[in-house]
Amino acid sequence: MAKTLILNHPLIQHKIAIMRDKTTGTKAFKELAKEISMLMCYEATRNLATKDKEIETPITKTTCKVLAGRKLAVVPILRAGLGMVDGMLALIPSAKVGHIGLYRNEETLEPVEYYCKMPSDIEERDVFVVDPMLATGGSACDAIKLIKQKGAKNIKFLCLIAAPEGIKKLEETHPDVDIFCASLDEKLNEHGYIVPGLGDAGDRIFGTK
Ligand code: PRP
Ligand code: URA
Repeated sequence: MAKTLILNHPLIQHKIAIMRDKTTGTKAFKELAKEISMLMCYEATRNLATKDKEIETPITKTTCKVLAGRKLAVVPILRAGLGMVDGMLALIPSAKVGHIGLYRNEETLEPVEYYCKMPSDIEERDVFVVDPMLATGGSACDAIKLIKQKGAKNIKFLCLIAAPEGIKKLEETHPDVDIFCASLDEKLNEHGYIVPGLGDAGDRIFGTK
């Protein structure tokens, strides 16, 4: 059974508070998304397998733990998910990056797919799907369905802000996927925006509004 983890570390909460502030500009918003993604990556990679390696320090020989070398992939949901990629790659630089383009139809709130390009060996990789916002959960559920269709089996989902509705839908639709989230907010409003949320993550990352 998968788990949902709310990462209420003080550093994460502090940075999320600044991101929520409507006076925070694009440059700071982007930097904070990267920093929080790094902190979340640290937690989401906690169970990566390690193996023993003999190392000679300047003092003596010793046995150390190193990563066992499982292949990893980071898959941002375009556009806003791009804001989390650099933070992830700062900690797992050898991960390959796949892209899924989805946008929400503003009336139906249903996700519409417009792009999908995965690493050719995605079925061998542990996949971290990233998107700052989990609102109705439609985009995350569809993205994960597509990635599973390409053969990936071990998938985790990381978001900055989630609504209870999105968590419920993702847990029910993909019970095998662990969810890592920096803040679980109160609810969705009548336009499908997270309350209190941080507004439109894509627009705030790319300065399009
Ligand atoms: C936002 C966000 C998620 C989606 C979440 O993307 O980045 O992908 O909405 O909403 P949901 O859980 O109800 O599906 P948006 O559709 O605004 O596209 P963008 O990233 O291109 O701005
Ligand atoms: N997408 C966003 O960018 N923000 C929300 O609050 C909901 C969906």
